[in-house]
This record gives sequence, structure tokens and C-alpha cells, in this order.
Amino acid sequence: PKQRTLAVIKPDATEEHREKILEEIHAGGFSVTQLKETALSREMAEEFYKEHREKPFFGQLVEFMCRGPCMMLVLTKENAVEEWRAMMGPTDPDQAKATSPMSLRARFASDILHNSVHGASNEQHAEEKIRFIFGEICPDAELNRD
Ligand code: CMP
Repeated sequence: PKQRTLAVIKPDATEEHREKILEEIHAGGFSVTQLKETALSREMAEEFYKEHREKPFFGQLVEFMCRGPCMMLVLTKENAVEEWRAMMGPTDPDQAKATSPMSLRARFASDILHNSVHGASNEQHAEEKIRFIFGEICPDAELNRD
């Protein structure tokens, strides 16, 4: 069955690589069912990454995520959560270069913080983050399409 996930092209990549990344997303067989460019406020970035609140890099992460516009996407595909995570590659681009050289982070990320893209880590997070970013939009219409 089709599934959806939230993908974010972070400020570093929105500035420099957005066209290339959008092309890859389409080539990878994802349907982009929602798309918007938006700059997160500090409060939104803190809420978005609340699971990381206790991490030593939380302050830097929030700072980075609201430094400029992000592209927010809802991607629909079979097994979308896992497929998008595979396309991104590991969090750390050095690891990505070693293990998945074709991944987006291997190719576009500059370091573990400025790592170009984000993806929800599981289906529940995906639904929660989609609601947070897009509100209550067409909950499941695109999932029921052939
Ligand atoms: P993301 O997949 O969006 O999830 C949390 C983000 O925190 C991650 O990508 C990176 O941008 C950042 N991050 C994760 N680990 C570290 C780290 N060790 N140092 C700095 N930033 C990190």
C-alpha cells in the first residue's frame, strides 16, 4: 500500500541544490503531493525537532534550520518512509560517502549538521510532522489513488 512521508530540503540545500534534489525525487518514483517553501520561525524549528531537545547540538540545529527558507514536501510512494531515508543516506555525510555514495547527503551535504535533507523516521512521525507543517490537509486522498 502507498505510504506518505514528510521530506524537508534544509536551508543549505534549498539555496544551492533544490532543482537537482527535486529531480531526483521525481526520478525515484515519488509523487510530490504537497509542496511549499517556507522559513521556519525559531519556535517552529524547536517544536519540529522537539525529540532532539536534550541533544548537545539542539541550539545549533534550530539556528541552522531557521536561517533561511526550507522546501517542505509530502512524498507518496509505496514504503515512502524507508525509501526516502534510503535516498537521503546516513545522517553524517562522511559516512554517507563511505556507504552510499549516490545518496543525497553523500553528494550535497557539507557536514553532519548541514546535511541538506530531512525525513521522518517512521510512519507515526511522518503523519505528526505532516500535520504540523501542512495542517489538516486532504488526510488520505492521495493514498487511495491507484
Ligand atoms: P535530521 O535527520 O534532520 O535529524 C536531526 C538533525 O540533527 C540531523 O538531521 C542533523 O542536521 C543534526 N545532527 C544530528 N547529529 C548531529 C551531530 N552529532 N552534530 C550536529 N548536528 C547533528
